[in-house]
Amino acid sequence: MTVDIVIKNGLMVLPSGITQGSLVIDDGKIIGILKSSEPKADRIIDATGKVVLPGMIDMHVHLRDPGFPEREDFESGTRAAAAGGVTTVIDMPNTVPATVTLEAFNQKKAIADGKSLVDFGFIGGAGEVPQKDIIELAQAGATSFKSFLIARFKELAASDYTLLKHMELLAELDRPLLVHAENGDLVDKYMEEAVASGRTDPLAHCDFRPDIAEIEAVMRCITLAAETDCHLHICHMSAEGSVDILEWAQSTGQLVTGETSTNYLLFTRDAMVERGPYAKVDPPLRSKDDQLRLWEGLNDGTIDVLASDHAPYTKEEKERGFDNIFDAPSGGVVIETTLPLMLDAVNNDRISLERLVEVFSTNPAVMNGFYPMKGDLMLGSDADVVIADMDMPFHIKGENLQTIQKITPYEDMKGKGMPVMTLVRGKVVYEDGQVTGKPGYGVFQGPLE
Ligand code: DOR
Ligand code: ZN
Ligand code: ZN
Repeated sequence: MTVDIVIKNGLMVLPSGITQGSLVIDDGKIIGILKSSEPKADRIIDATGKVVLPGMIDMHVHLRDPGFPEREDFESGTRAAAAGGVTTVIDMPNTVPATVTLEAFNQKKAIADGKSLVDFGFIGGAGEVPQKDIIELAQAGATSFKSFLIARFKELAASDYTLLKHMELLAELDRPLLVHAENGDLVDKYMEEAVASGRTDPLAHCDFRPDIAEIEAVMRCITLAAETDCHLHICHMSAEGSVDILEWAQSTGQLVTGETSTNYLLFTRDAMVERGPYAKVDPPLRSKDDQLRLWEGLNDGTIDVLASDHAPYTKEEKERGFDNIFDAPSGGVVIETTLPLMLDAVNNDRISLERLVEVFSTNPAVMNGFYPMKGDLMLGSDADVVIADMDMPFHIKGENLQTIQKITPYEDMKGKGMPVMTLVRGKVVYEDGQVTGKPGYGVFQGPLE
C-alpha cells in the first residue's frame, strides 16, 4: 500500500508527550504514528530537526466577511491563517449582516465555502437576539455564541436580563457563551471623562478604560452563569483581577474558561507609546503585573485558550489615531503572527510547546466540539498538521503579510520559531513561505454530534 504522505523524523507533539517519529497520512486522516519504519508514500516530508504539531484552531477571528472587504475577507484571512499555522478559524458574529439569523449564517457559509483555504466554523451572535434564532443557529452548527457587554455592536450587546436568559438557553443547547467582558456604562462614562480631559495621546486609551470595567464585567458574567449550567467563556482577558476571579470561580467547580492573546501577553501599555493606534485594542493593553498574571494563568491552567483576536482595520482607519487615539478603531491584524510569536515564547521558556498546543489547538477543539477529529495528532483524526522550525528567525514586516491590510502591531519585532508547512486534512496549504492552498478547499466545521 502506498499512502499519501509520510512526515518523517519530526519531534511530534502527541497527547502522550513529545515523541520522535513519523506521521502517516492518507485520505486526509492520520493513519499511523510510528517510531521508525515507514510505509511507501507519494510524498515523504523530512521533518528532521523540526517539530510536528496539530494544526492551530484560532477560535477568535474577525474576518470581516461579509461587510468590510477593504479590511479582510475569507480568502485573504485564511491565506494568512495557513501561513500562520492555523488550520481552522472560528469567525466572530460582528460582520454585516451580523451572524444573528439563519439567513446571515447561511450567507456567511456560502461565502466561506467559496473562499476559505482552511477549515472554518462560526460563532453566533447572542446579545439581544431572539431565542428562536439562537436555537436555529445552534442547529445549523454555530459552535458557540457571543455577547458584548458594551454597546459597540448593536444587536450583539446584551442586557443583564438577556444575558441570564441566554445562559439558560445555551446550557440546554450545550453551547458555550463567549463574552466580551467590559462594563458598558463605565466604558461610556470614562469616555466622557476622556473627552473632557482633552487628552488625545495613545496612553489616554488605557488611562480612560481602567481594569475595573473588565473586572466588574467578568465578575457579573460569572455570577449570572453560576445560576445556570452554562459554560461561560471569557474572551481576550487582559487584567490581573480577571484572572484572579476566574481562578476562584473555577475552584468552586463552575464551568468557566478564559482566553487571552499575544496582544496582552507580549505588550504592556508601553506599546501604546511606541506603536500608537496600531496597538489599540479593546480591552486595552495594561501593566507589567497584569501581563505576568496572564502568563501565570496561561501556564497553570486557569486560562485555557490562546486565540489571536484578529480584528483588522485599514491602515487609514488605524492611522487616524495618530492625531487623536480615540479616532482609531480597536483591533489588529494578528492572525499570521500569533504562532511565530508564541514559538518564540517557547524558545524563551515562557511556555512549553505542549502547553502551547493545548491552549491553541486541543482546548479550542474540545470547547468547539471538534475533538477528537481535530485538536491532537491521533489515529483517525483529521491530518491538520503544522511543521515548525524552532530555530528559524523571523522579522515581522507588515508588507510581507498575506492579509489585505499590510499592517501589524508587531512591526519590526524579531524572534525565532516559524511554521514552515501547514496541512489541512492532508493537503499542504502552506510550504516554505508560499501559500499553496486554494480558496474553496476549507470545509465548514460544526460541533460533532
Ligand atoms: O479590539 C477589538 N476589536 N475588540 C473587540 O472586541 C472587537 C474587535 C473588532 O471587531 O474590531
Ligand atoms: Zn471582544
Ligand atoms: Zn474579538
